[in-house]
Amino acid sequence: MITDRMVEELNKQLNSELYSYYLYLAMAAYFDSINLKGFANWMKVQAKEEERHALKIYEHIVERGGRVKLYQINQPPVEWKTPLEAFEAAYSHEVEVTGKINQIVDLAQREKDYATENLLQWFVSEQVEEETSFSSILHKLRLIGENIVGLLITDKELGERKPS
Ligand code: FEO
Repeated sequence: MITDRMVEELNKQLNSELYSYYLYLAMAAYFDSINLKGFANWMKVQAKEEERHALKIYEHIVERGGRVKLYQINQPPVEWKTPLEAFEAAYSHEVEVTGKINQIVDLAQREKDYATENLLQWFVSEQVEEETSFSSILHKLRLIGENIVGLLITDKELGERKPS
């Protein structure tokens, strides 16, 4: 039995994953606008990942007999000053998401909702991977600084990311 409180928290997390989808699509649009097609590709693949996360929560709510509710998705920013600034914002966003996931894990443990805790443990591992992948690009961008050649090499690398 899943509680109404847990369904509510999962619906909020579903909204948060959809916001992540929106945010990374907005970042893809920013990168496309400055002709960094590899960066744009990387963000589009990431946006699809976030959609997958949202659907994973959606399916769990349905399977447990809860009601999915789709809340309004906040508007993400349109512009960032530099690729570095975009990745700093993305990394901070992921750290925030990790905090939210951890809070729902706490709730699942308090409620002894082991099925939801099991789902959330997948997200706990996923967040470790996501923070690592964002921070590794962030560190690279900090090293590159204003170096255009370095930026273009990174753009080529990020263009190779394929949907998982
Ligand atoms: Fe769904 Fe990037 O966390």
